[in-house]
Amino acid sequence: MSNLQKETVLEVQHWNDTLFSFKTTRDQGFRFKNGHFTMIGLEVEGKPLLRAYSIASANYEENLEFFSIKVPDGPLTSRLQQIQPGDQIYISRKPTGTLLTDFLLPGKHLYLLATGTGLAPFMSIIKDPEVYELYEKVILVHGVRHVSELAYQEEIQHALPKNEFFGEQIAEQLLYYPTVTREPYINQGRITNLMLDGKLFEDLGMPAPNLEDDRFMLCGSPAMLQDLTRVLDDWGFKETRKGVHGEYVIERAFVD
Ligand code: A2P
Repeated sequence: MSNLQKETVLEVQHWNDTLFSFKTTRDQGFRFKNGHFTMIGLEVEGKPLLRAYSIASANYEENLEFFSIKVPDGPLTSRLQQIQPGDQIYISRKPTGTLLTDFLLPGKHLYLLATGTGLAPFMSIIKDPEVYELYEKVILVHGVRHVSELAYQEEIQHALPKNEFFGEQIAEQLLYYPTVTREPYINQGRITNLMLDGKLFEDLGMPAPNLEDDRFMLCGSPAMLQDLTRVLDDWGFKETRKGVHGEYVIERAFVD
């Protein structure tokens, strides 16, 4: 497997019982676009056991970062959740994916709609200075069951607006809308319902979506993708397909 690189785990953060993230070293030759995923994994019984993971770090950062669920009997995540700084991890040198601004028609507002670990590629995208040149507003919506699953909040709400290079743009152009479905929170409900009843746009102070201005990237479970694409399709938006640019792109979040 010549396209596999071994990297070293630098830091592990456990967000709660079901979610963790970790940083690794990055080979200087490893190039990717913000929004890409790649195969990563561990050696199990002498063979690499790999799964697709979105890269949560931006492509100019020194290290790589990944965000994962912990599935108790998941073949990879049951092992991956035990990693410690200093451990080795496989990372494929061939990142790919569809969650790229290059694949969308030009627009004014970029909606990044994520559930669960579907947040990962959007962490990379919201750290991309170019995205704030391409769009007037970048709207990150993160839907989770429980408040403890709202990972990266501190970074999104506090660290990024203070970024020395483009913090001001982030403070002005990035809108963040966390929503929780199974316990009380300031925003509640599924993304689909919040879009259908218009509450999402009202709360954000955004106009109702229209084909001219609004673009969407979706990342979540297969059920979430199915329901959300139905909403967008009903509103007349088209998915980018076979090289024909549309108003939205989708990627399935990693599930083990
Ligand atoms: P809910 O609590 O109502 O199931 P999961 O962990 O199952 O992927 O869910 C993450 C978040 O996505 C939860 O808030 C969940 O809401 C929501 N969700 C699950 N299925 C869908 C769907 N088909 N459309 C929109 N949101 C969904």
